[in-house]
Amino acid sequence: MANIVVVGTQWGDEGKGRVIDSLARTSDAVVRFQGGSNAGHTVVVNGEKFVFHLIPSGALYPGKKCIIGNGVVVDPQDLLLEIEALRSKQIELKDLYLSSNAHVVMSYHKRIEQIEEERRGEQRIGTTRRGIGPAYADKAARRGVRVADLLEKGVLAEKLRINLSFWKNFYGLDYSAEDLLHQYLEYGRKLKRYVTDTSLLVNRLMQEGKNMLFEGAQGTLLDVDHGTYPFVTSSNVVAGGACTGVGIGPTKIGKVLGVAKAYVTRVGQGPFPTEIQGKIGEILKEGGQEYGATTGRPRRCGWFDGVILRYAARVNGLDELILTKLDVLDLLDKIKICVAYKYRGKLIQDFPFELEYWERCQPVYEEMKGWKKDTSRIKIEKDLPKRMREYIKRIEEIGGLPISHLSLNPERSEFLSLH
Ligand code: GDP
Ligand code: IMO
Ligand code: MG
Repeated sequence: MANIVVVGTQWGDEGKGRVIDSLARTSDAVVRFQGGSNAGHTVVVNGEKFVFHLIPSGALYPGKKCIIGNGVVVDPQDLLLEIEALRSKQIELKDLYLSSNAHVVMSYHKRIEQIEEERRGEQRIGTTRRGIGPAYADKAARRGVRVADLLEKGVLAEKLRINLSFWKNFYGLDYSAEDLLHQYLEYGRKLKRYVTDTSLLVNRLMQEGKNMLFEGAQGTLLDVDHGTYPFVTSSNVVAGGACTGVGIGPTKIGKVLGVAKAYVTRVGQGPFPTEIQGKIGEILKEGGQEYGATTGRPRRCGWFDGVILRYAARVNGLDELILTKLDVLDLLDKIKICVAYKYRGKLIQDFPFELEYWERCQPVYEEMKGWKKDTSRIKIEKDLPKRMREYIKRIEEIGGLPISHLSLNPERSEFLSLH
């Protein structure tokens, strides 16, 4: 089906990269619409691991257009390193396109983020330190540097003058405008061949009836409007972000696919109602290799949370769900699913709004026996253990949406289709 948006339904790292890689086979183009190099999307092909940060995760299939939309914040240094790393593995990005309107993450954004995180102390967000928040803040404050500016010496010089004087007054930052001008013009020179009007390109491709895949980064609960604010990223992660982050109308979207991990993880600070402390958390962390693909930080692990699934289904308008990493639960004797929260004795079915609730609510669990079988090589639905099928069915009931595919190992291969 044409024009599919893929979004994470939890706090990121649900396996979006692996899902995009699988769907890319039958797509013509993959488009990133938000986030930046805070994302780490893993694809494993014949045991070889690729981690994508800015480049869409369809890049491993030759001939697919890889498009970075205007809603992405682009660190040119990271992008050039990623292009180079792929080239060293004989992957030539002949069809890479970069929006001229995308905002640029500047080196001073990373410094600003560091200062702000340090000042927050205990209340720090635990960001990836990729300069994402300050770059989006400059965008909203209308002083941001855009990709097109890297190609215009006069415009870039003027923007640097304004920005550097602002940040000097604000945080006492002392950057040489001349050095930055030289450095970023050089990035512009290297990236020029990819720069284009990506909204025009994507709309033309859609008119030609091409199959488009829109790749979300992060996860719904990290969305700046709909996530666990302030412990969020700085962009609109939800499916609607694909429209503003690419320059397409909502009527053009054919399907919204959610990706959920069979348990939940979170990196960085912030509320996490179903977090597990102790041995089972360790089993999930080690079994699922839950270490950040961008920062290497250990991910916090918890039980599957049906309340956030229902919420993600609502704010994204999910049509279907893909459930990943079920194999990681193979070893467990008992598996819990959170079906509601309890707050001051009251049962809550819908995801609450305030930090106070997220921090103090108690998850209400249903417990199931584990299937205790290696499922990582299973290819067809009828071979799934009965208890695993029950687990999947219960998630469908709680979320109120169908699970169309399962992923039971990180390797590229067909997903297991259900129904
Ligand atoms: P993303 O940010 O949503 O793309 O997810 P990440 O790449 O950050 O993290 C997902 C991790 O789980 C990666 O290491 C994947 O290789 C791995 N993975 C994906 N699907 C599966 C699966 O079904 N089973 C297992 N065991 N690992 C998986
Ligand atoms: P993918 O696309 C998991 C988290 C950070 C931090 C918060 C804000 O791989 O799923 P930021 O650097 O964005 O300002 O950090 O968001 N975060 C992610 N967590 N996966 C990601 O991306 C993330 N991108 C940002 O850990 O809590
Ligand atoms: Mg990731």
